[in-house]
Amino acid sequence: MSDRIVPIRVWDAPTRLFHWATVILLGSSWLTESRGWMELHFLSGYSVIALLLFRIAWGFVGSETARFSHFVRGPIAALRHLAHLHRREPDTAIGHNAAGGWMVLAMLAMLAVQVATGLCANDDGDTEGPLFKYVSKDRSDWLSHIHAVNFKVIQIAVLLHIVAILIYLGLKRHDLVRPMITGRKHLPEALQPPMLASPMRAVVLFAVAAVAVGVAVNAL
Ligand code: HEM
Ligand code: HEM
Repeated sequence: MSDRIVPIRVWDAPTRLFHWATVILLGSSWLTESRGWMELHFLSGYSVIALLLFRIAWGFVGSETARFSHFVRGPIAALRHLAHLHRREPDTAIGHNAAGGWMVLAMLAMLAVQVATGLCANDDGDTEGPLFKYVSKDRSDWLSHIHAVNFKVIQIAVLLHIVAILIYLGLKRHDLVRPMITGRKHLPEALQPPMLASPMRAVVLFAVAAVAVGVAVNAL
């Protein structure tokens, strides 16, 4: 078997774009709310919804490393992976590891809670989410509370996400960030590169998600 190290594309462009767009939109959602620019806050939130819909679909029909079936494994596998965290060994991972898979699901779930609660939220003033009129004021107040608390939970999760990435760098000398930017990792040539889905499929899926959100928002 050849042990030559070659660049292998482990993350497709749509997954990387999804990731960095989510980072930017979380920042813009926070900034717009803190400045009271609520129309822009809604726009930023709707963009997160379109991205989430896209990522969920991409998790079923996207490239191999983006698929839920590829990275969602049992909790035992995740714990076993964490137990080996201190071992310094070459990075041969193609896609999320067993523990990282749970982090992805948790992040997506928290983002879904954030946008779903925002849709029904109100600020006791003149700002109301588009679904406010379909819920009682009490329920909207409660969902607004969850919207605020969940944002704090997201902030903690993002901090842990970054700490985890630093731990991989410090303990294992694995640079996970560069592949999330370039898509490529330097791996043994003998490893099987992952199947990559057509970028056109991603463009169509994202367009469908964006149009669906636009139509739904205008219909409300
Ligand atoms: C708002 C902040 C962030 C959120 C919500 C977030 C969320 C996520 C999500 C959902 C994934 C899974 C990607 C996918 O499969 O679709 C992921 C992966 C990843 N993120 Fe972030 N992220 C954030 C910030 C960052 C930052 C600042 C960095 C860099 C320092 C980073 C580096 C990474 C890396 C390297 C991975 C891939 C990990 C692996 O190799 O398995 N993220 N992130
Ligand atoms: C990832 C996306 C989102 C983030 C990070 C976010 C973040 C926040 C934050 C930090 C607040 C202030 C909470 C407080 O301390 O009182 C807030 C308030 C609010 N957001 Fe969002 N939001 C998001 C999406 C949405 C969406 C999609 C909508 C509706 C279309 C929305 C509607 C509202 C409303 C109506 C408020 C005022 C309620 C209040 O002040 O409690 N948000 N948002």
